[in-house]
Amino acid sequence: MRGLILSGGKGTRLRPLTFTNAKQLVPVANKPVLFYGIEALIQAGITDIGIVVGDTKDEIRGAVGDGAAWGCQVTYIEQEAPLGLAHAVLTAEQFLKDAPFVMYLGDNLIKNGITALVKEFRERGPNAQILLAHVPNPNQFGVAELEDGRVVRLVEKPKQPKSDLALVGVYMFDSHVFDAARAIQPSSRGELEITDAIQRLVDEGLRVEPHVVDGWWKDMGKVEDLLEANRLILETFEQRIEGTVDAESRLEGKVVVDKGAQVIGSVIRGPAIIGSGAVIDHAYVGPYTSVGSGVRIIHSEIEHSIVLEGSAVESINDRIESSLIGRNVRIYKQARKPRAWRFNIGDNSEVGVH
Ligand code: TTP
Repeated sequence: MRGLILSGGKGTRLRPLTFTNAKQLVPVANKPVLFYGIEALIQAGITDIGIVVGDTKDEIRGAVGDGAAWGCQVTYIEQEAPLGLAHAVLTAEQFLKDAPFVMYLGDNLIKNGITALVKEFRERGPNAQILLAHVPNPNQFGVAELEDGRVVRLVEKPKQPKSDLALVGVYMFDSHVFDAARAIQPSSRGELEITDAIQRLVDEGLRVEPHVVDGWWKDMGKVEDLLEANRLILETFEQRIEGTVDAESRLEGKVVVDKGAQVIGSVIRGPAIIGSGAVIDHAYVGPYTSVGSGVRIIHSEIEHSIVLEGSAVESINDRIESSLIGRNVRIYKQARKPRAWRFNIGDNSEVGVH
């Protein structure tokens, strides 16, 4: 069985970060979200993996390489434009051939992995198996309606949802999906929707089986999702200290301090991770914070945030929280008068002050 990871797309909801970086490489607990997907497939015994890429192909290729780091084999499949998930499937037809496959959205995280689901798919052999999760806001997702344990209807972002079962970003198909994807028309947003292709399978009387996941899942749609995924992953960590922590500092709970990181006169309250070469100096790093490699947090307080590599937060009086700070950003206190906020921020940024 082969795996297909979708890593193209536009990532418009995660701008400005995705102006310069692939959404699938945004780190969650200091590891690109895409790597969790690769590992989930490998854990399920799938080592022949195709990755669909778009504009950010060079960056994805640079990060994943040929898969040797994981002991898997990666093939890159270029999608001419982000024309929808069903379009991505068609683009990969030659790679997937006639065998059943797992399709995994490269910006998704699933707590319990997919091993049990792949096993179930292999054993039961339906034409498609879709993953579902109960959500409080189904009108923002593709929603499935079930009858007698089968999927009967799929609706993309329904105004009046008939169930609270949202489609999670993992699907298993046999080769019938290609004809179904070829038969559908682009939706009002101009994309070939995978929900329409699956509906087509249902309408043709093929077996589409649901699997409701237990445990959480997240997709990296918006900043809040990213922060929540970061929180969920950090919670699974155990304490590990490989960097240096001076006697004046205090680490509480699940704290990871990577090699070459320095904690000086600071308090770190886990769950939190301090990346390699980072410096935390007379600062407070609170729960659910991921500090990337080479980051400097000096005389400042931060919690429930993600700071990407190479950035610095220096002498900020008020606590920073629920923030996503990109690469090589500098936030610092100026001595210069007049006392004022001074910004140099790119397009589509967001700053909340009190
Ligand atoms: P989405 O989150 O649906 O789309 P997007 O990445 O373009 O983001 P936004 O809505 O914020 O603009 O995509 C889910 C995953 O599938 C993501 O990893 C990107 C990937 N994808 C493709 O590879 N090809 C496509 O044509 C589309 C639409 C998405």
